[in-house]
Amino acid sequence: MLTAVPDMLDDTCVILRSGGVELILDLESGHPIVLHWGTSLGEVPPATLRTLVDGGIPHSDLDDPTDPGMLRESSRGFTGRPAIRGHRGDLGFSPKFTIRDVEHDDQHCRVALVDDALELRLEQSFIITDQGVLLIDFTLHNEGTTTYTLDELAVWLPVPDRATDTLDFTGRWLRERQPQRQPLTPGLRLRESREGRSGHDYTIVQCALTADAGTERGEVWGLGLLWSGNSRHLAERAVTGRAALGAGELIEPGEAEIAPGDHYRAPTVAAFYSNEGLDGLGARSHAWLRARAEHPSSPRPLTLNVWEAVYFDHNLDTLLRLADRAAAIGVERFVLDDGWFGSRRDDWSGLGDWVVSRDVWPDGLAPLVDRVRALGMQFGLWFEGEMVNPDSELYVAHPDWILQVPGRVPPLARHQLVLDLTNPEVVEHVLEQVHAVIAEYQVDYIKWDHNRFLTDPGHQGHPAVRRQTEALYDILDELRRRNPGLEIESCASGGGRIDLGMAFHADRFWTSDQNDALERQEIQRWTSLVIPPEMLGTHVGPTVSHGTGRLHSAQMRVITALFGHAGIEWNLLDATEEELTVLTEWTAFYREQRALLHGGRTVRVEHPDPSALVHGVVSHDRSEAIFAYVQLTTTAGTRPAAFRVPGLDPTATYRVRTQAFGAPASVQRRAPSWMDGFEITGAALASVGLRPPILWPEEAILIMAQRT
Ligand code: GLA
Repeated sequence: MLTAVPDMLDDTCVILRSGGVELILDLESGHPIVLHWGTSLGEVPPATLRTLVDGGIPHSDLDDPTDPGMLRESSRGFTGRPAIRGHRGDLGFSPKFTIRDVEHDDQHCRVALVDDALELRLEQSFIITDQGVLLIDFTLHNEGTTTYTLDELAVWLPVPDRATDTLDFTGRWLRERQPQRQPLTPGLRLRESREGRSGHDYTIVQCALTADAGTERGEVWGLGLLWSGNSRHLAERAVTGRAALGAGELIEPGEAEIAPGDHYRAPTVAAFYSNEGLDGLGARSHAWLRARAEHPSSPRPLTLNVWEAVYFDHNLDTLLRLADRAAAIGVERFVLDDGWFGSRRDDWSGLGDWVVSRDVWPDGLAPLVDRVRALGMQFGLWFEGEMVNPDSELYVAHPDWILQVPGRVPPLARHQLVLDLTNPEVVEHVLEQVHAVIAEYQVDYIKWDHNRFLTDPGHQGHPAVRRQTEALYDILDELRRRNPGLEIESCASGGGRIDLGMAFHADRFWTSDQNDALERQEIQRWTSLVIPPEMLGTHVGPTVSHGTGRLHSAQMRVITALFGHAGIEWNLLDATEEELTVLTEWTAFYREQRALLHGGRTVRVEHPDPSALVHGVVSHDRSEAIFAYVQLTTTAGTRPAAFRVPGLDPTATYRVRTQAFGAPASVQRRAPSWMDGFEITGAALASVGLRPPILWPEEAILIMAQRT
């Protein structure tokens, strides 16, 4: 129940508290100041908190300085990057908002602010979820009689002085989510995404950390945007020494012209705090996303995607044999990728024509779909509905249906252009064609791809990424509405559109086109920081990786692919009997373990030896765990460092065993004796750990712990 704050301008703090996290908003000065965002402080009177943050008055400051608060206005003496930038023609560049109204309870707060001179109203909504995730929404209303041009509206939250480092993620096609940690020194750290999609280089979350913070320990603050279009994530330390994190949509010039009476709603910002390192941040995000009504609740079906098996070479006989073999080894969902429609025999033509190709599929998809169903598998199909090849029936009929700047056609990428979804006719066309195929074959699952970044993304000369992004969300939601039970995977040349916005419109992300198990270790470790593993496609690739040419054992590949929504992307018709046996054992093991893998707490162990990575999942009741020890390179010493298995009940005893998929390639006369199975306490596993065998590089072992 929200209650208005009486006399709120006289000594009022609003405290939102949940899941061990607290946000304290000070409203006394007439604008929202975040006094605290972090761990619960207990009952501290507002006056005491204000005393704690009061740093006196240096000679170089205003005579009577106030905290500029969340809006970071010049009108209140702030000289760093403001939260709101905009204007009415050449006027109104410097807002000064004051609070008009506040309502709140323990987990929600709504603040209405106005700038009477500028005729603007800002509605702020703060929600702290049961999992301790803070969700912040800003909506800016134009109450004037002229258009207000908005250039930026970002959410900023301060981080304490002890947050000395920043962490964000960079990447490219085949190498997404590589962490980059730097000192949070004076100046602005800015991660912009201008691809019209979140992009391979998208950070997903911008963090600030204490110096001691790692995956298992320390304090972390992070902001992430629920948005798949252009974006900014920021970290700034001012000359005063105070630091803050920011996030908001990247608005192109003229993209947010707010007409009189109209408004701009900024994408929601999710703010995560953890005093249990990055894993604590991840656990909060996973719990929050898992609590959504739309979170996939059925066991995640083991998937075969035929892309790396056949590419564009669609041959019914081959695909039927592949389906037979897939079902025989335990695959539960069969996905037909690119190449089934129009003139799409390679990536030069056919995109945009979502009609089954009669050249390749003379009897339609039914012969394949029927076999897949008869074998007890679900059927999935690939689309790239936002795109068009110039060599397509659609483009020939409607060359004006693309995003462009009048008078020029954007440069091609993968021989394709981007459809203008801000045009309702285009949306209608895409929806009708895609829906017709889904409905005809009762498709269970679609992989929705997006293989190029946007250039010149305009509609009749106006910047269009914002409306394009909203139109995409509408299309995906509408497809689900029309086809109840339909699941959607978001793909963009692999992991080019993995973000918290898309998490609310898709059930799964294709983590990366990189199926090399070694490369996948880091990609999955960091993509799963905020996205739960059951939403991340992790497939066993071919023996020799198509992404790197590296050769990996079946054991290394299946252990790597286990920690996600598992699948296979490999021509099983080329697999040896031995490999098929391993795969069959593995699919059975995945089915047995998926409740744990997809429901537990993800643990990224801080391992002392850089030659290995250790990670796992521990059930919430701490009764069981599954960990992988991954040997990346050879070890410096002859005896590899022991690896800890943290997160279990220290007082309980666990039966520990390894799970092998084929013979692990090790180079020693005798393996450590614990590998035959033994019992040990959770405390010993967390502190002493286990001595790994001397593995070949690029090999892995799997360890299971079960409470006795
Ligand atoms: C993208 C995807 C791949 C595959 C191809 C098809 O690259 O990431 O998985 O679907 O498109 O063209």
